[in-house]
Amino acid sequence: MRNVHRRTFILGGAAAASSIALPSAGATGVPATATSLPHDPFQLGVASGDPSADGFVLWTRLAPAPLNPDGRGGMPSSNVDVQWQVATDGNFANVVASGTTTATPASAHSVHVEVSGLDHSRFYHYRFRTDTTPSYLSPAGRTRTAPGPGVLANQLRFAVASCSHWEESWFHAFQQIADDSPDLVLFLGDYIYEFSTDKTTNVREYVDWGTDVVDTLAEYRLRYAQHRTDPALRAAHAAAPWAVVLDDHEVKNNWNNSTPSVSQRAQAFQAWYENMPVRAAQKPAGGTMTMHRRLGWGSLARFHMLDTRQYRSPQSVPDCNDGTRRMISANQEQWLLDGLATRPATWDFLGQQVFFADRDSDRDPNTCNGDDSWDGYRAQRSRISAGWVERGVPNPVVLTGDVHRHWAADLLANPYDPDSAHIGVELVATSVSSGGPYADPNNPNPRLPGHLPYVKYLHDRRGYIRCTATSEQVTAEFMQLSSTTEPDFAKVSVSPHARFVVPEGEKRLLRG
Ligand SMILES: [Fe+2]
Repeated sequence: MRNVHRRTFILGGAAAASSIALPSAGATGVPATATSLPHDPFQLGVASGDPSADGFVLWTRLAPAPLNPDGRGGMPSSNVDVQWQVATDGNFANVVASGTTTATPASAHSVHVEVSGLDHSRFYHYRFRTDTTPSYLSPAGRTRTAPGPGVLANQLRFAVASCSHWEESWFHAFQQIADDSPDLVLFLGDYIYEFSTDKTTNVREYVDWGTDVVDTLAEYRLRYAQHRTDPALRAAHAAAPWAVVLDDHEVKNNWNNSTPSVSQRAQAFQAWYENMPVRAAQKPAGGTMTMHRRLGWGSLARFHMLDTRQYRSPQSVPDCNDGTRRMISANQEQWLLDGLATRPATWDFLGQQVFFADRDSDRDPNTCNGDDSWDGYRAQRSRISAGWVERGVPNPVVLTGDVHRHWAADLLANPYDPDSAHIGVELVATSVSSGGPYADPNNPNPRLPGHLPYVKYLHDRRGYIRCTATSEQVTAEFMQLSSTTEPDFAKVSVSPHARFVVPEGEKRLLRG
């Protein structure tokens, strides 16, 4: 057991102020709030997200003492002006956008800058600097814009990841994602966990609150800060823009539209927003937020990011075939189907949280397994998949997290009829770290469920999916770590355990 004392994660030392001229404070009319900070406030790194054809959102959060128990990261209760720059080169010789924004205590001194007006389909570099004495310069991040509407990219390389419990394994998958330098990272939920485990295989510990679960704003904030003290996670954020949705553990295990309280949701959502590179459109208010959204990648791909938590009917609703029992809201369902009726791109990726393919173990269509998957919400699942069939969606690909194991499955018009039409595929990413060495220590080598012949792959290792989309095919490499307990990434190999190809127009998985 490798326990690392939490206090050792506080990184000291002041960053050297840059000699490169940055725009002066107040350039955007925001009144400067002069202050000083005791240490480098950029210990949580930088991030970018939700790229469009001409921009993205840039993120950082000031926290000179990330693990302070009050969740405020060692920041004073005053505003701090933060300057930002976007350049076409890593030396910031050619700055193409810059400005000043204000980090406020109400937002835990997080910064979200939405940049627009940039060139399509181009990589950029960005960084921040505090307007303090002394000033501090952030590490630089790399991000990019998407291709413009109608423009076909040669390829899109993206990672699909989820489920990063701090304690259960090292974040080597994040380091490999950083080393891959993808165009985009999809993170499909369980970025933090509200609970601590006491597994003997744990590699490190969450800050101990003396409670089993966290449920307050200060506690949630500290969770995110603790995660960002991990250099591999910071590297993955700095390497590429992310598109992020949350699942249950950013709030409470298996929550739905009836629990937890509005107050707890509001606090969890606030901390999530403060710590994620998402746009103001995703800013929570009154215990709700708009998480579902669409990202375009020219004429090659679209990502429909879903919210399967906030509006989910409780599993206590008895009949999963009941049409009113919903995984996503009625509005979101219509929004999804309306979007799928248009055809701007070859591939339609549904980025969502829980298992979509039929996994009902007894194959009884009248049995309602409330097991935190779409099996419990069959009527809506049928409406969605029949809806994309009716609309002639040529290449639907469902991308999923949550289950801490790699899975790949063909989607059938009738999962109970193996001869029915292929209507799409699902790629399920294992966890980055959750579950430890094995998701189920009692069953470390699960077999394919033989009675579900459309399930093509199942593997219990930590990792992520490395995808490459072209106009001809999507290639999915199911990456696995050789070790989850070895702390030194240099001693760990990360390699594809299986490779599948989805040829354009075929809606089925082939071994690649
Ligand atoms: Fe998880």
